[in-house]
Amino acid sequence: MKALIAAGGHGTRLRPLTYTINKHLVPLANKPMIYYALEKVAETKIKEVAININQGDKEIKQIVGSGKKWGLNITYLEQAGGALGVAHVVKNALDWIGKDDLLFYLGDNIVLAPLQKLIDKFKKKQLDCLLGLTKVSDPERFGVPVFDKQGRLLKIEEKPQKPKSDYAVTGIYIYSNAVREAVQKIQPGPRGELEISDVHTYLIETNKKVGYEELTGWWKDTGKPDVLLEGNSLILANIELDIKGKVKKGAIIEGKVIIEKGTQIAKNCLIRGPVVIGKNCKLENTTIEPYTSIGDNCDIQGAEISHSIICDEAKINCNKRIVDSLIGPAAQVSSQKATKPSGHKLILGNNTLVEL
Ligand code: DAU
Repeated sequence: MKALIAAGGHGTRLRPLTYTINKHLVPLANKPMIYYALEKVAETKIKEVAININQGDKEIKQIVGSGKKWGLNITYLEQAGGALGVAHVVKNALDWIGKDDLLFYLGDNIVLAPLQKLIDKFKKKQLDCLLGLTKVSDPERFGVPVFDKQGRLLKIEEKPQKPKSDYAVTGIYIYSNAVREAVQKIQPGPRGELEISDVHTYLIETNKKVGYEELTGWWKDTGKPDVLLEGNSLILANIELDIKGKVKKGAIIEGKVIIEKGTQIAKNCLIRGPVVIGKNCKLENTTIEPYTSIGDNCDIQGAEISHSIICDEAKINCNKRIVDSLIGPAAQVSSQKATKPSGHKLILGNNTLVEL
């Protein structure tokens, strides 16, 4: 079996962060989102992986590399013709897939459950398709399975206005070679894309063996910053204490906290985990509360920060409480200077959001 990871598309719903970073590289607990997909694949027996990227994208290749650090051999496939849909990602990769079975993983999904269990079920039951499902409160945002009274799958509806179940089809799929015909037969849906839900419905309607498995600990970026913070929390909840940086006597560290090399925590700081702090940061007079991640080379003075993502190189210097926030790379937040005219002085890029 090979694995194909989708990491193309434009991430428009995560602007302004995605103006400068591909959404699959947005950090969750200080690691690019796509690393979690690679780690999950690396836990299985799969070795051959392709990552679908946008045409001309160099960033993902540069940051992810050959795959050696996960024991994987990674090939990069540019999506010919553009981001024409999730099913188009598979169609574009058919030559690379050849006759092998395929684990197809949407790179903006995070799943905590082990994938080998799904692969074993797929093989044992000799399925053509296995879908990861999960219960959600907002199925209308996803592919939604429709079941008959016996719990058999009838079809998958893509983002239906009136969902017929409270399950979402996650972005974790396993296919036999039957997917080859399906991706070639389906037509673009209402949003002009080749929809993966139509592939699944095609497989069901052509009597292929389609099964499903309920996944626990699943998260997907649905584009809203609060959802990104939820993903960050899901990962932080599973970290272990690891302090490599310097913590001055008098600083208080509580719970599971990671502090990387070169970081200095001054004596008047309180860090209450789960929290991760990257390399070469300086924290003074600061309180960091649970579910916060702070990137590399950040300088934080005076603030209280809770349930937030602070990216690399950010500078925060103010006696304020910052909550549920996403602070992008090299962004600065400082206290108001006593210069005239008084008032908040803001320099904001496109699609920035500030609540004063
Ligand atoms: O995550 C689960 C959902 O993913 C499923 O429930 C839906 O049935 C499925 O259609 C898909 O829905 P989304 O609207 O959330 O897909 P999105 O456009 O966000 O793309 C999913 C991933 O695939 C994301 O990592 C970007 C990548 N992608 C997307 C497109 C359209 C590509 O690599 N190329 C593409 O052309």
